[in-house]
Amino acid sequence: MNDDVRVWVDGALVEPAQPAIAALDHGVTVGDGVFETCKVVDGQGFALTRHARRLDRSLAGLGLPAADHAVIAEGIAAVLSGTAIPFGRLRYSVTGGAGPLGSDRSDSSLTYIVTAGPQRLPPAHAKVVVVPWTRNERSATAGLKTTSYAENVVALARAKERGGIEAVLANTRGELCEGTGSNIFVVVDGELLTPPLESGCLAGITRELTLEWCRAEGMTVREEALPLSVLDTADEVFLTSSTKDVLPISAVDDRSIPAPGPVTARAAAVFARMSKERTDP
Ligand SMILES: Cc1ncc(COP(=O)(O)O)c(C=O)c1O
Repeated sequence: MNDDVRVWVDGALVEPAQPAIAALDHGVTVGDGVFETCKVVDGQGFALTRHARRLDRSLAGLGLPAADHAVIAEGIAAVLSGTAIPFGRLRYSVTGGAGPLGSDRSDSSLTYIVTAGPQRLPPAHAKVVVVPWTRNERSATAGLKTTSYAENVVALARAKERGGIEAVLANTRGELCEGTGSNIFVVVDGELLTPPLESGCLAGITRELTLEWCRAEGMTVREEALPLSVLDTADEVFLTSSTKDVLPISAVDDRSIPAPGPVTARAAAVFARMSKERTDP
């Protein structure tokens, strides 16, 4: 399944199927770690500086020591060098390192894992499925990109069972929040709206760039708390993520929506143009 994936752990390339992480690594035992997923185009990682900054915020949020970005850069070079992956995913994780069996930590050094591999291009449009579970906007890890993603695994499996590409979650206040690995935008009366970070969503790099670039283009874009029910009436819906860019949504559960609508098409075109011009915006 992962034949094309290159894996580098703590200083060396390793066989993807071979063990390379200690069984007592705190990332393995309790999900005590953080990660980043970046798009790869023609063998080059996209927006690496913004991803590195978000990793730092996630580590600080967990109370883990700061990462050595020279080490991460070495891993990135190792997994991407000579590959020229046309379209793919670069994923790097930094975990708490060797730890006790429970949730308390020992004073160990961080573990660095970097992987890269090709990926199928996103579809032209897709369905999303609203799931009954919530994001907790008051969680200690709200907004942090931690390796504790089991909730997302469950939610995404539910969406896939129902023909969706992604699950959409509300937060505990019943507000629209995000997908398991993407942010969400809606168009209401010609205005582009997306939940604010206080909703508990991740500060997606694609979300951030979409906001910046669409605003620079003169489009009206607002970060606003929205009831989940906005999905029953929104004129357009799209997702943003590193491997999906701007993905038009053609159905929310059983409700069909024209995709891409005009505002989504414009946002997608702006994103495509700007991201082609700059590899590290
Ligand atoms: C929970 C969650 N929300 C949103 C996103 C989108 O973020 P980005 O645009 O940085 O890929 C991700 C990325 O995987 C995510 O895991």
